[in-house]
Amino acid sequence: MLDWAKKWLLFFMAVVLITTGCDRRGPDGEQVDPREKIVIKFSHVVAEDTPKGQAARRFARLVEERTGGRVEVQVFPNSVLYKDGEELDALQKGAVQIIAPTTSKLSSLAPQWQLLDLPYLFENEEQVHKALDGELGKKLFATLEPYNIYPLAFWDNGFKQITNSKRPVVHPEDFKGLTFRVMINSKVLEEQFHSLGADTIQMPFSDVYDALSKGQVDGQENTVSNIYSQRFYETQPYLTVSNHGYMGYVVLINKKFWFSLPSDIRKVIEETMAEVTLWEREQAAKLNRKNFEKIKSSGEVKIHIQTPSERDEWQAVFAHLYQQFRSVIGNELIEEALRTKRTLP
Ligand code: LMR
Repeated sequence: MLDWAKKWLLFFMAVVLITTGCDRRGPDGEQVDPREKIVIKFSHVVAEDTPKGQAARRFARLVEERTGGRVEVQVFPNSVLYKDGEELDALQKGAVQIIAPTTSKLSSLAPQWQLLDLPYLFENEEQVHKALDGELGKKLFATLEPYNIYPLAFWDNGFKQITNSKRPVVHPEDFKGLTFRVMINSKVLEEQFHSLGADTIQMPFSDVYDALSKGQVDGQENTVSNIYSQRFYETQPYLTVSNHGYMGYVVLINKKFWFSLPSDIRKVIEETMAEVTLWEREQAAKLNRKNFEKIKSSGEVKIHIQTPSERDEWQAVFAHLYQQFRSVIGNELIEEALRTKRTLP
């Protein structure tokens, strides 16, 4: 090629690179330079047809739409990437960018999170939301400061119910001699069952169905949507609706990754997360109601709804846990939760 032609070609290429490089998106808003794509891996342990599963997918779709495809959120449900006991570590190392574990599971980092495991701490979602969206939530979030994780939101799962394969559990003495699966990392949950005379085995969520069907444990506690979507009810013919404890999620993102994102992307993620959080909470209540009807109509489960006087009996057995764990959880957090509860019916 002639020397002047080479120079013109180089000049032409430089102009093209500079001008297209300023706006990597094509005219239709979809053509994103693949090298610029931000991939967020969102790993969780439950089925897709659960409040968390559905909300993760909705969040992924909305973020992708609202960033014109610049951000792709890949959702990995059912512990396919990491299970309980692995996912917090994976998040901190940046192997995944978002997880949404049950709050109890954060107790391995900060034992204060066991606050939410205290039986009968809250009586309804309204109390839970007021507490977690207010001072209490801020204080819990602050405990995560030293770690490479940044909290984005609190999502609901719902109130826990008890299932087992042996007999109806109505009064505290009915628990004696039974073994229950409890979530990993929470001493409060272990003590809750021990004070009823039951034994416990800590186990990741992904192992529970097998353990129940092989009789390695007799029962477990969970929300109705988990009991239904994991088919626990198929091997657990006794269900007590006790609403004895709240089970919720904290949506966490890898902190280093979060602050490496452009601020406009962080804004979209934050706004979308806030919107999806409201949707998720409604969905959790709906799914728990819907799945309860399905379990009922399966005819496979004998359901007992706890009466107020039975609740008093259980509560009397659990009362000492508030004292026993006061120094672990912190007086301030317990009092904050109880104060918020008193402001609402
Ligand atoms: C459990 O381990 O039972 C739950 O925390 C699972 C979940 O994420 O809902």
